[in-house]
Amino acid sequence: MGYKTLCFGLTCILFAYYIYTPIPKNIEEPWKVRIIDAAIKITSLMATLLEKIGLKRFDELFSIIMKLDYTQPISDENITVMDITFSDIPVRMYLPKRKRENLRPAVIFVHGGAFVLGSCKMTALDLLNRQTAKNLGAVVVGVDYRLGHQYQFPVAHEDVVSVLKFFLQDKILAKYGVDPTRVCISGDSAGGLIAATVAQLIQNDPEFKNKLKAQALIYPGLQVIDTSIPSQRENEHGPLLSKKLALELACLYLTQDKTLPQAMMKNQHMPHGSRHLFKLVNWSTLLPEEYKRNHVYTEPILGRLNPSYSALLDSRLSPLAVNDSQLQNLPLTYILTCQHDILRDDGLMYVSRLQNVGVKVSHDHMEDGIHGALSFMASPVYLQLGIRIKDMYINWLEENL
Ligand SMILES: *[C@@H]1O[C@H](CO)[C@@H](O)[C@H](O)[C@H]1NC(C)=O
Ligand SMILES: *[C@@H]1O[C@H](CO)[C@@H](O)[C@H](O)[C@H]1NC(C)=O
Ligand SMILES: *[C@@H]1O[C@H](CO)[C@@H](O)[C@H](O)[C@H]1NC(C)=O
Repeated sequence: MGYKTLCFGLTCILFAYYIYTPIPKNIEEPWKVRIIDAAIKITSLMATLLEKIGLKRFDELFSIIMKLDYTQPISDENITVMDITFSDIPVRMYLPKRKRENLRPAVIFVHGGAFVLGSCKMTALDLLNRQTAKNLGAVVVGVDYRLGHQYQFPVAHEDVVSVLKFFLQDKILAKYGVDPTRVCISGDSAGGLIAATVAQLIQNDPEFKNKLKAQALIYPGLQVIDTSIPSQRENEHGPLLSKKLALELACLYLTQDKTLPQAMMKNQHMPHGSRHLFKLVNWSTLLPEEYKRNHVYTEPILGRLNPSYSALLDSRLSPLAVNDSQLQNLPLTYILTCQHDILRDDGLMYVSRLQNVGVKVSHDHMEDGIHGALSFMASPVYLQLGIRIKDMYINWLEENL
């Protein structure tokens, strides 16, 4: 039997195995979700193998596949689309063509991908940003910040800050006809985390004269301190995003040393001197009762990791773990959470913390939601859930920005 036949046979067996892995009962289009889930699991396995035999780093196979999905900047009759740079950071800009009497709102979009993958050029996000521009008559800017492992923390964060610093200048807002009082920062997943930290920076830093009107966070990650919250326990194996995959990818933003994701899997990654942060992310006090179920709170275990990573104390990796004083100036907030998502409770806890300090929050919870659905919104694999999430997000912007 030829080598290729053997590989093909093994892939089929794996596919058949993964496709029968149970998924939650209330998920819409279960077969499509199963296929996507099986494809991701097989890619993870291959990525692990390629890494073990020393051919490719874990993230490279994912990166190659995702790049096949990048689109060109294509203008249409309503929107001009351009790939340009703001302060040397590549951005994709969507400008409505129709002349308007009034100034326009603007949305800065920060894509997800665990800090190491993805681009605002992915078909689904291109569609999302284009439709946002069209429906709101808004200027939309997708940011292609530099990615880990090549560029480590806080490069991605700083790139997004640079873009905002550039864009929020009076002369730049005027150039694009943007109303300085109607700017929103948005992001999904890891992009939601970056968006949340950048919003905290802008609202609290007097250097930024023009502030944000809104932030919109779609199934965001919001902390790296406690990796044993109920949603991580319940959804450890996915669908779509397993805890192991999320950690293996996201840790590359800090290091290529595998002991970090391994320690994070066991909630034993925080360095000594970080215990004061636990109360700020304590799910036992911050989650609504219905999400605590029968889970028992256990504190993260300190000081097991050598070398330790002081970056894990940085609030730019855990915007949930800041004091109330840093939250109270935050703008109008939209948070969308998904039930079957390891990041669910990050979003739910941020809703609680923001409401506790009087920030106005709109919260949509998708009872049948799974992580990453927004990225499956275009042919060949589109999920109705992705389209619903897109519509809810854009509707909120239409009503609130
Ligand atoms: C442009 O906008 C018009 C009016 O809303 C719409 O009918 C048309 O389909 C739009 N074109 C594209 C390419 O979206
Ligand atoms: C977390 O909350 C629980 C329940 O309110 C409490 O017993 C525990 O001491 C808290 N732990 C920390 C570190 O805040
Ligand atoms: C929060 O406030 C306490 C006391 O007010 C301070 O010691 C601590 O450094 C602050 N934490 C952060 C993350 O700003």
